[in-house]
Amino acid sequence: MTRVISILSGKGGVGKTFVTANLGILLADLGKDITIIDGNLTTPNLGLHLGIPLFPKTLHDVLKNKAKISDALYEHESGLKIIPAGISLNDLRGIDARDLPSALLGLLGNTGLVIIDSAAGLGREALAAIESSNEAIIVTNPDLPAVLDAMKATKLSEKIGTKVLGLVVNRISNKRHELSEREITELTEIPILAKIPEDRSVSKSIAMKTPITKYKPNSKVSIELKKLASALIGRRIEYSVPWYRRVFSIFR
Ligand SMILES: Nc1ncnc2c1ncn2[C@@H]1O[C@H](COP(=O)(O)OP(=O)(O)OP(=O)(O)O)[C@@H](O)[C@H]1O
Ligand SMILES: [Mg+2]
Repeated sequence: MTRVISILSGKGGVGKTFVTANLGILLADLGKDITIIDGNLTTPNLGLHLGIPLFPKTLHDVLKNKAKISDALYEHESGLKIIPAGISLNDLRGIDARDLPSALLGLLGNTGLVIIDSAAGLGREALAAIESSNEAIIVTNPDLPAVLDAMKATKLSEKIGTKVLGLVVNRISNKRHELSEREITELTEIPILAKIPEDRSVSKSIAMKTPITKYKPNSKVSIELKKLASALIGRRIEYSVPWYRRVFSIFR
């Protein structure tokens, strides 16, 4: 059975697309046959994170029965495959997110691993992503509104029968008002898979249309994402800590 993992959150803007794009690039680097899908049908931007804003055929054309899923499958220079969504307002006319699980059927069996970047909220679009997946990763920020939505996303996934692998806590800046790791685990009752710090390089990398794991591969953000990618496929992480970080750690 093809592994299909949806990236969910509940709350918007917590970093789902950033996590999806980088996991895709890293898993392709690890030699995986990986396809990422823009499941954010109303406000898609996965292509932008990879520097490809426009595609001739998209998931919207597939949902309108105007294209086969293979027509909307593109290969990034990294070897990563992507199924983008259409970015124009017209693309939204005549589509129903509930058709997503059946639209993806043609893909299953032809790829090793699928990751779906879901929309915010827990409406039709997110529901369609959950129903299309057998596993889910929930992205959150270390604040109460995001964590409460993460709890809802977890419960909904479990109810549907999609296995929740755990949480990615993103944008940690270790401020006193932030929820601690313990508080987050106590509330959500699911394991934390990765702890990603707040880093201005993330928005810079998006502006540069280069995922941060390529733009700043030795940053803490990239190393956490590499650990997550390796853990997902049960591989031991192999990366070298840059010399300057080793020197600083002696003084800590
Ligand atoms: N670790 C981080 N450090 C700093 N900025 C970050 C970090 N992660 C994400 N961001 C910023 O947060 C913004 C939102 O990220 P992203 O688009 O991935 O969120 P999202 O959950 O996909 O949003 P939506 O719910 O709208 O789809 C981006 O502009 C990105 O620059
Ligand atoms: Mg997004």
